[in-house]
Amino acid sequence: MSRKLILGIETSCDETAAAVVAGGSDVLSSVVSSQIEIHQRYGGVVPEVASRAHVEMMIPVVADAMVEAGVEPADLDAVAATVGPGLIGSLLIGVSAAKSLALVWDKPFVAVNHLEAHLYASFLEEPDLPLPLVVLLVSGGHTMLVLMEGHGQYRLLGETVDDAAGEAFDKVARYLGLGYPGGPVIDELSNQGDPHAIAFPRAMMKDGYNFSFSGLKTSVVNHVRKNPDVEAADVAASFQEAVVDVLLTKATAAVREHDAVGLCLAGGVAANSSLRERALDVAAELGVRAFVPSRSMCTDNAAMVAAAGWWRLQSDGPAPLDQGASSSLRLPTL
Ligand code: KG4
Ligand code: ZN
Repeated sequence: MSRKLILGIETSCDETAAAVVAGGSDVLSSVVSSQIEIHQRYGGVVPEVASRAHVEMMIPVVADAMVEAGVEPADLDAVAATVGPGLIGSLLIGVSAAKSLALVWDKPFVAVNHLEAHLYASFLEEPDLPLPLVVLLVSGGHTMLVLMEGHGQYRLLGETVDDAAGEAFDKVARYLGLGYPGGPVIDELSNQGDPHAIAFPRAMMKDGYNFSFSGLKTSVVNHVRKNPDVEAADVAASFQEAVVDVLLTKATAAVREHDAVGLCLAGGVAANSSLRERALDVAAELGVRAFVPSRSMCTDNAAMVAAAGWWRLQSDGPAPLDQGASSSLRLPTL
């Protein structure tokens, strides 16, 4: 394994992040400047505000990542950045910064798919993960079940037909008046509630590997409207239980059907306490290994971008400097 040093840059949504990773898994620094406080007053991410904050934070965050890692530009082997999917204005800030640095420092530029970066978060902590793996990628913008057969070799088994799991957490939290982002608040509040208090629907349980969360969100709203005195903690816990049930039922079926040797979680929702605990139980029952990245590697960060960039540099080589950004980039599948 080469010890190539990659500077990763991530600006696809509301986190300005930079990291230096050696050899695809040795994290020398990982700096994340979150814009949560800026967007909280609007109840969600405002794209134009996010872009402006990225412009302000980009250079200081890169400088911090380089200083923390103790490396000079000359030590780097490449600069990698997320080129999509995400908010186009935000993506362009990171891509432009990465290309400029690559040009000035005379280093190759590597284009990274944000979804692939999430898949690589597990490899930061477990570089020798055995394959094939079923990865449950659950974030604010995506919910997908991926069969990872090899590096860069993905089969998309299923995805959400409407809201992403994280989006459902955020919308339910907003409806309950719990603020933004919803995932962490619902996670916390659920500790005080009864996950079996309300029987919310589990959609598409027998329909293959696709997911649907928009009906669940509507059920929560209807239930609270009809029962205004219901305990918010019971609503949160029962909602979370329904989401986790669906996610893990489908992930279990995918591991069985494809004889996967491991089950991996990725994306911001993988920071959820109940999902993490139950994924470990499910993997133990299935007799496969479970890989659950640490919480800071589940939510958006640049270490995962550098890790994916390291693999992409070896398999595809550098990207041209006229590489653009794409808000709707798909995971490259087989
Ligand atoms: O991966 P991520 O940081 O950004 C995207 O690429 O979308 O995911 C953000 C999403 C948000 O919807 C947030 O509410 C959710 O991840 N999230 C959680 C938790 N922490 C973050 N959802 C459930 N439980 C959590 N503890
Ligand atoms: Zn993400």
